[in-house]
Amino acid sequence: MLNQPAFAYGAGFRSLTEETRDPVALPVTGKLPTWLKGSLLRTGPSKFEVGTRTYNHWFDGLAMLHRFALADGGVTYASRFLESKAFRAAETTGKITYAEFATDPCRTLFGRVAAIFNPKLTDNCCVNVCDYAREAVAFTETTMPMRFSPDTLKTLGVFGYRRALKGQVSTAHPHYDAKRACHYNYIADFGMKSLYRLCRIGDDGKQRIVARLPVARPSYMHSFGMSEDHLVLTEFPLVVSPIDLRLSGKPFIQNYRWEPERGLVFHIVEKDTGKLVRTATAEASFGFHHVNAFVDHDRLAVDVITYPDASIIDQLYLARLRSSAPITATGTLTRFHIPLTGDAPVTRRILADVPLELPRINYATRAGKPYRYVWGTGVQSQGDFLDSIVKIDAETGTVARWHLAGLYPGEPVFVPSPSAEGEDDGVLLSVVLDIAKQHSFLLVLDAASLAEMARAEAPHAIPFHFHGNFFPVAAQAT
Ligand SMILES: [Fe+2]
Repeated sequence: MLNQPAFAYGAGFRSLTEETRDPVALPVTGKLPTWLKGSLLRTGPSKFEVGTRTYNHWFDGLAMLHRFALADGGVTYASRFLESKAFRAAETTGKITYAEFATDPCRTLFGRVAAIFNPKLTDNCCVNVCDYAREAVAFTETTMPMRFSPDTLKTLGVFGYRRALKGQVSTAHPHYDAKRACHYNYIADFGMKSLYRLCRIGDDGKQRIVARLPVARPSYMHSFGMSEDHLVLTEFPLVVSPIDLRLSGKPFIQNYRWEPERGLVFHIVEKDTGKLVRTATAEASFGFHHVNAFVDHDRLAVDVITYPDASIIDQLYLARLRSSAPITATGTLTRFHIPLTGDAPVTRRILADVPLELPRINYATRAGKPYRYVWGTGVQSQGDFLDSIVKIDAETGTVARWHLAGLYPGEPVFVPSPSAEGEDDGVLLSVVLDIAKQHSFLLVLDAASLAEMARAEAPHAIPFHFHGNFFPVAAQAT
């Protein structure tokens, strides 16, 4: 089967090495809403080859920033490599120099010993872009987020965490709390005594620790949950002995072990007091993305896209993806109900039994609160890569879908209409790869009906990437 791929999505994993620093106007078909003004800023792996080596995994490629700027019915596009130390070292030496998610540099014996005592964290921020402490910041899963100009996409330098927040691993999915005017994130500090630190990063630049949770074998957690008053660390049973990260010589993620007997462990922490409200365990599952969380009477509802195990990570190695091999591991929107008091068990329920990834909600009005709609990428043809956009009604389980053969859409970013009355009143912005034409376009869908409103054709194909956000014009004034 691997020799005769049924799909053609492998084209989305070719390197794009050409930058478009000067914005180019894109041809638009259809009609953009007149109120839609701002920039969709995204990051993603774009260069997978350095010298004679190829990165191993989709998550490893060198990051490129992309901007689709929308105003007055028109769209411009620009792109630029993130000038991280990892990127510069690769350009200068022609070698992979920094360890990524599933790729390690070839080191001499001396280099291997030196790396044990002074590991270099990668700053190749290819996972997400957020407005973080009032700056445009690109993220990877280390404590080295990178600031950049939202206007020129020029890299400005590392986002500085206070020394007290030190650690190695973090998430590219910080949560924003508008009421408290701050972001939350977690940082894992690996050592003889490892810790998860839940942190608060204020819009005013102030940073402080909310809670410290000791951990013997840290879990791989790509995101975490947030309700109005709680943070939820969900320890998937994919865990590592920190000493292995130093001594094994294996790439980062290959040090983690799937131990389903540990179950799925939720730690619920109060934002304002740092108090650990409850630790509760459910049946083992894996996941990358939390969707939302909210208090439902005396329980916390935590919505996560779950997989039966962590084999999805193995299915995203580059050689496999480039062969367009069928993808058999799919995620499902799952609600966990965790009683906030006592020791009653956690219950789980599938909200819609369809594949879902790269989820988005109406974050501005529904983050941490009861909500109804989830948008994400789905799979129409079993085994295919993410080939459609789905909208799930979490109350009824109803699924709506946008799908056209040969088109592979990325994460649909919800932008609310300024006069919105309903939760789904707005548009979705998604970068779509057209396999037949070998180029990408920005797709604008009506978020309520998934009806197509407009397309803006990019000058080339853009490799499949992960996340980004819409920066309204007003937020770009600084
Ligand atoms: Fe993610």
